[in-house]
Amino acid sequence: MPITFVPETQTFYLDTDNTSAIFRVYDQGYILTEYWGKRIHHADLTRLQKVYASGFSPNYPGAVDRSWSLDLIPTEYPVYGGGDYRSPAVQVQFPDGSRLLDLKYHSHRVLEGKPELPGLPHLDGADCTLELTLCDDYSGLEVVLSYSLFEKIDIIARSARICNKTGAPLKVTRALSASIDLPRADFDMMGLYGAHIRERQLDRTPLRHGIQSVESRRGASSHQHNPFAALVSRETTEFSGDAYGAALIYSGNFVISAEVDSFDTTRFQLGINPFDFSWKLEDGEEFVTPEAVMTYTDQGLNRMSQNFHNAFRHHLGHTRIRNKVRPIVINNWEATYFDFDEEKLFDIIDCCKGLGIDTFVLDDGWFGKRYNDVCSLGDWVVNKDKLPHGLDPIIERCEQNGMSFGLWFEPEMVSEDSDLYRAHPEWAIHKEGRPFCTGRCQLVLDLANPEVLEYLKKALSDVLANHRISYVKWDMNRHITDAYSSALPADRQPEIYHRYMLNLYALLDYLNKRFPDVAFEGCSGGGGRFDAGMLYYMPQTWTSDDSDAIERLKIQYGTSFAYPPQCMTAHISASPNHQMGRVTPYDTRARVAMSASFGYELNPLHLTDEEREEIKNQTARYKKIAPLVTEGDFYRLISPFDRNCCAWMFVSPDKRRAVAVYVQKLGVPAWPRNLVYLAGLNPDARYRIEEMDGEFYGDELMHAGIALPWMGDFQSASFTLEQID
Ligand code: GLA
Repeated sequence: MPITFVPETQTFYLDTDNTSAIFRVYDQGYILTEYWGKRIHHADLTRLQKVYASGFSPNYPGAVDRSWSLDLIPTEYPVYGGGDYRSPAVQVQFPDGSRLLDLKYHSHRVLEGKPELPGLPHLDGADCTLELTLCDDYSGLEVVLSYSLFEKIDIIARSARICNKTGAPLKVTRALSASIDLPRADFDMMGLYGAHIRERQLDRTPLRHGIQSVESRRGASSHQHNPFAALVSRETTEFSGDAYGAALIYSGNFVISAEVDSFDTTRFQLGINPFDFSWKLEDGEEFVTPEAVMTYTDQGLNRMSQNFHNAFRHHLGHTRIRNKVRPIVINNWEATYFDFDEEKLFDIIDCCKGLGIDTFVLDDGWFGKRYNDVCSLGDWVVNKDKLPHGLDPIIERCEQNGMSFGLWFEPEMVSEDSDLYRAHPEWAIHKEGRPFCTGRCQLVLDLANPEVLEYLKKALSDVLANHRISYVKWDMNRHITDAYSSALPADRQPEIYHRYMLNLYALLDYLNKRFPDVAFEGCSGGGGRFDAGMLYYMPQTWTSDDSDAIERLKIQYGTSFAYPPQCMTAHISASPNHQMGRVTPYDTRARVAMSASFGYELNPLHLTDEEREEIKNQTARYKKIAPLVTEGDFYRLISPFDRNCCAWMFVSPDKRRAVAVYVQKLGVPAWPRNLVYLAGLNPDARYRIEEMDGEFYGDELMHAGIALPWMGDFQSASFTLEQID
């Protein structure tokens, strides 16, 4: 059993194949974190881990000497009020106004597998789970910390359950999912920041004393920061060094912080953002936090990412399609924007015949009076001016041409100019009578209101149940402002953001179960909600509204730090590119897009015969390499954040097959030798490379490298490897 409790020393050992997490019940029942890192023996850490006294670190009641202070003890789930001045993991307010808590060991149990996290997306298929119950003796409040172990992939999933057993209501004002104190501060913090059309750029900065964090206050995980961060040693590279990674399975307001104290302890925390959050908990009720996914490796960033990829590919979400090859899609957004009608769609669909594309997705503009983005969100009925015979002839036309049909929705939104808003202005998030903001001329529906949830279940089911729709692109094109719900009483207003998420998850759960054959794709102005919460229900996300292959190098590379490539939708778009105006060779666009869930975002009516042939080759090639993209281990080789080029590769789990891609950003004059070193191969195996003449040993390719010819702007190369028996 990977979870052991040694009663003599009151110590818990949580072991995965390559890591150990160790903590123990300390004086009076406080939990002392002893270790999290590379797997070690179960010796007696109690003698090694001694804490010494420090001035101005207060001693808790009954402490036997001055070293016994919560300000000094590394712990698992710190509280406020008892002398630990660093950030707590939990804060509550009792009816008498007191905010004091003192959590001590109460009991524990070890379970096979892993219980469900009610109402929240979560990993499944863990080997075992430790539930550690802590109690505040004074009030009776309990907190159950849950640790689920995934031995083979070095993942620990953590969450907390706050149980009100106090006999009176209370307010939870902070409820993080996980907190860990690491006994060093010489880390870099890595995170992913960005903006619309420039998502998930890599940030890596040395920690300083004090708190540093990534967070969202936008009601969505956001383009601006992603709910992932890592603490890594200064010398950590892609292939070596310590990396502590944390990702939150949540799509709303979050925070991930690292707090370095005066003694160079780093407190690493993540969970729901306490900013503008509180939750009223009646007596007998529980509050369950979202799940945090934690991993440690001493093998560098690629291994850290592979651990996340394995967790999200094999243990997250809708079981039927989570590890399946995704359809090749053509989406009409950049082909037509709002300007289409039945005839034009027929022409586009007919023109796709024989290209090897699986699904045609009709994007924005098919409903209400939607000729532009100022109206009709909420009115999910077909626009009869554009599509006089409804969706069915479009669907039939797709099927006649060998494709299935997908449809775009933006369910969480309402336009002021819509029948829905005219009927139910109170369903939009805002405060009646107070001027409110709009974003893309629209408001956000108040999903904290159960009536809105019911309306959306029905509106979406009506469309999905009555048409043969195999694919849904689910968009979300603005963030929350004016956070006020007409459905919540005054003292529950700060619950709006989390209630919104819970009901969004309930809606997605309902639709997933009712329409199990529909593949859902997430989107939020591109990758504004690219998080593990959304991936639970929608196993891929439109990675960015920037479809330019060269911009996508950074966006997809950055995204891969936490999320597997198969979860990223990437399409070949027109050249010059619509966002950047850049002209990029077809094969470079193809190589970048094929390293993800692949498709097209262009007008097939504009293709030359030569380009049509090229597309046929691309779709045939993608069908060949898609199993590698889906199941293979992904390695980042050259970072576009550091260099003028970028390279990556996929290696099959048995190491017999691999595909590597190299892309040059700007060409550099007088550069006669450019080497790319492959990774993850069997050093002793011989591989044939389709694009090169000859056979090579794995160790040659990994250590001596492949010399690339000189390349001009935006040129690229790929290498397809097959082991020779
Ligand atoms: C967002 C999406 C795009 C497209 C448009 C439609 O920006 O990211 O892909 O669907 O909305 O309005």
